[in-house]
Amino acid sequence: MADLRSATPDDVVGLRSLGEAVLPATYDPIDPALSALILDEWWAVDRLAEQVERLPHVVAEAGGEIVGMANLGRRGDREVMWKLYVHPQHQGSGLGARLLAATEDLVEGDALWLEHVAGNDQAAGFYARHGFAEVERVANPPYPDDVWMRKALR
Ligand SMILES: CC(C)(COP(=O)(O)OP(=O)(O)OC[C@H]1O[C@@H](n2cnc3c(N)ncnc32)[C@H](O)[C@@H]1OP(=O)(O)O)[C@@H](O)C(=O)NCCC(=O)NCCS
Repeated sequence: MADLRSATPDDVVGLRSLGEAVLPATYDPIDPALSALILDEWWAVDRLAEQVERLPHVVAEAGGEIVGMANLGRRGDREVMWKLYVHPQHQGSGLGARLLAATEDLVEGDALWLEHVAGNDQAAGFYARHGFAEVERVANPPYPDDVWMRKALR
């Protein structure tokens, strides 16, 4: 069973390895160009280091490896879970639900927001079953839309 804890700067290399395992598996079937862009832009080591410094991150560790992560940031008045990722070999064992619950515990306001790529039906179903509802779709040409979802927490 994986342990959850707050991320430290030393986790950046492990986070990058997680990204390399989970991003292509998730996004290549939807849009390989977008998959590469997300990995290059949002999972670059210097970007990860900056984010771990600035935002709360929860990581899941098993056998000395980082096998899952989530983080919490803001866009305007929205508290946003920008990332929730579980290593493909660890999906389906309840880790995503545990990381989501830990992120919800960090929310200060009355709602948690997230965005996912249109076509990521696995994530959309997971979020819907955990109480999120779609609010809006934002065009992101030439890539698929960004789907914003919100969950009321209190
Ligand atoms: C979406 C994601 C984070 C969910 O993580 P996960 O660890 O697979 O999630 P869980 O195991 O908690 O739940 C997945 C399913 O496994 C089942 N499950 C939960 N606990 C379980 C257990 N102990 N044993 C077996 N199955 C279990 C649940 O029935 C759940 O089904 P549901 O979707 O109907 O609720 C994960 O699939 C993922 O990383 N996907 C790729 C990246 C991604 O798309 N991230 C979101 C970007 S916005």
